[in-house]
Amino acid sequence: MSAVLHDHINHIRSQFPALARKASDHSAAFFDGPAGTQVPQRVIDAVSAYFARHNANHGGLFPTSRESDAVLAMAHQAVADFLGCDDPDTVAFGPNMTTLTLSLSRALACTWSPGDEIIVSRLAHDANFTPWVLAAADAGTTVRYIDIDPEDCTLDLDDFKAKLNDRTRLVAVGCASNAVGSVNPVKEICRLSRAAGALTFLDAVHFAPHSLIDVVDFGCDFLACSAYKFFGPHVGILWGRRPLLEELPAYKLRPASDALPDKWMTGTQNHECIAGTLAAVDYLADLGRMVVADESLSRRPALEQVYQAIMEYEHQLIWHLIDGLRSLESFRLWGIGDPLRHAERLPTISITHSGRKPAEIAEKLGRQGLFVWHGNYYALPLTERLGLEPDGMVRVGVVHYNTLEEVDRLLVALRDLA
Ligand SMILES: Cc1ncc(COP(=O)(O)O)c(C=O)c1O
Repeated sequence: MSAVLHDHINHIRSQFPALARKASDHSAAFFDGPAGTQVPQRVIDAVSAYFARHNANHGGLFPTSRESDAVLAMAHQAVADFLGCDDPDTVAFGPNMTTLTLSLSRALACTWSPGDEIIVSRLAHDANFTPWVLAAADAGTTVRYIDIDPEDCTLDLDDFKAKLNDRTRLVAVGCASNAVGSVNPVKEICRLSRAAGALTFLDAVHFAPHSLIDVVDFGCDFLACSAYKFFGPHVGILWGRRPLLEELPAYKLRPASDALPDKWMTGTQNHECIAGTLAAVDYLADLGRMVVADESLSRRPALEQVYQAIMEYEHQLIWHLIDGLRSLESFRLWGIGDPLRHAERLPTISITHSGRKPAEIAEKLGRQGLFVWHGNYYALPLTERLGLEPDGMVRVGVVHYNTLEEVDRLLVALRDLA
């Protein structure tokens, strides 16, 4: 286990005011991270400081507007560091990942014709599925679907290779499943796609709170994520390779600049939450500096350190949970359960019970202060493929502010339900 984060867990938790919350007489245990994480105090402070001191629209020639633009510029730089790129103008903010993906899909579809093909996956969140299906329908483009192995809920790479060809214009896959935690081999998918002449779009929303994103190492053309899943406010993020962002026709208003990043940031942005996103990245970087006791680390190396520590810590918690579930025969784990394959999963699991509906389980756990999600969590392509509609599954997500004690509480409660 990560002795490192374990040693700092009280300090980490003390920074998140929400974690002190009670539900009835129970301490709240937030296992709903995949639907949105809690935020540290400094994110709350950054949002209110923006309103208190710098609140203004973009591009004015007076102090508050200039200060506001300076905060936005710092946020672009922080997110560029977070994504592993060196060009802050290739980072666009927007309301959420879904809206950014819908707008990028419209722009890309302008470059597609009948006879072209795109590839999406059945392991996807619907936000990385339906926007492409709709855009393909508009352009008369054919959609191919990468199947999964239902046994372990991983992508069928052979199926992907069989569907990729010289007509493929785009491959859209997730970095990891928000339902079952499977990590996709995105480097290989991007490499093969590029060799076939196709662009790649990665959905890193579920990946971002658990693992370091590196757009250069992944070799993708576009990547999207959402700050509210990595301890920040409700803001979406889109990154793209500069030449593509420059050349593609964006749907935007006439006064909006053609320069990056404004070209892809339609309408007035949520400035206060972008300020909070900057604070979220700095929270993670400071935690990285703390775990290696090196205040001098710059942001990207500090993020590398924190994600190493987060991965080790979360690994211990999730495998403790999976091990505990093995003795509860009425529960079925969907996804990878073999500890030897730990590198192929994130700390998010979905389970079903032989006799109880997911909503009943989530409700009963909720009354004990154990906050879990139920249903399909918009991973509809997967729940449909697994035949789990309409009830779906129960999802338990662990992030770095959860504790082993919370996991033990959950196991006791699941044992009672089993
Ligand atoms: C994997 C994944 N992709 C996309 C989304 C959609 O993100 P947003 O809420 O920012 O539109 C989610 C949200 O749950 C998600 O988990």
